Amino acid sequence: MTTRPVARLSGGRPATDGAGVRLRRSLGQSPDARLDPFLMLDEFASDDPDDYIAGFPSHPHRGFETVTYMLEGHMLHEDHLGNRGHLTSGGAQWMTAGRGIIHSEMPQQEAGRMHGFQLWINLPAREKMKPGAYRDVRPDEIPQAPLDQGATARVLAGSLDTSRGTVEGPIRGVTTAPLFADLTLPAGSAVAVPVPAGHHALVYVFEGRAAVGPADAGREVPTHTAALLGDGDTVRIAAGDEPARLLLLAARPIGEPVVQYGPFVMTSREEIEQALADYRDGRLTA
Ligand code: CO
Repeated sequence: MTTRPVARLSGGRPATDGAGVRLRRSLGQSPDARLDPFLMLDEFASDDPDDYIAGFPSHPHRGFETVTYMLEGHMLHEDHLGNRGHLTSGGAQWMTAGRGIIHSEMPQQEAGRMHGFQLWINLPAREKMKPGAYRDVRPDEIPQAPLDQGATARVLAGSLDTSRGTVEGPIRGVTTAPLFADLTLPAGSAVAVPVPAGHHALVYVFEGRAAVGPADAGREVPTHTAALLGDGDTVRIAAGDEPARLLLLAARPIGEPVVQYGPFVMTSREEIEQALADYRDGRLTA
């Protein structure tokens, strides 16, 4: 067993996206701040409607997948085909933009807390132009698995091996084999979770703080911070003297060039120019 060390910490930087949604971006602030195949990780968390009410009006995507995971709040997704999906507390949406999706993501509340994440996962070149698709995942479709020492994991994508067996999330069959798990650790607890060697992995702490890495050389990860991990086959996470909650994300790297222009992520400049022309001419999704 090789425990993955922390290679780098990336604190969530304040950013604004959509029509004025305030969020924290811990991956994707710059081209260097990615972890193949993960392109971007945003956390939005606010009790103030001014921080989220403007939402994300109609906008395009091409070439990758977006994962929206809601902890609290209610958003309505509508795409160019008239598909509608409600994202509610504890639920998720897994969208494969493929060659193109044009959609909006708008808050369905005028008060109260909105808290969630959006993660962008790249697609390999051969899948970038496949038809767009998305899947709404209800809260009760995400299994909650007991881990050691009273910790638990909600598994949205991939599978997690625990001492009580393997837990499979509802999202499977993605080429990069992503693991997307939401872990809750009681104060003072520690867990060791297997993650395939060679996959890239990160831990994003969003409540409390955690020590990540080998037991004798763990690194303290503050709230709202991503810990990008080195290689190994096990991720070890220990809560401090208060409970901790975090996302554990892992996936097989793609190893291809990444050329991004806003919501288009391709492998060359020519493909980006094609995406812009297709969007302008109404052919993005055709
Ligand atoms: Co979008």
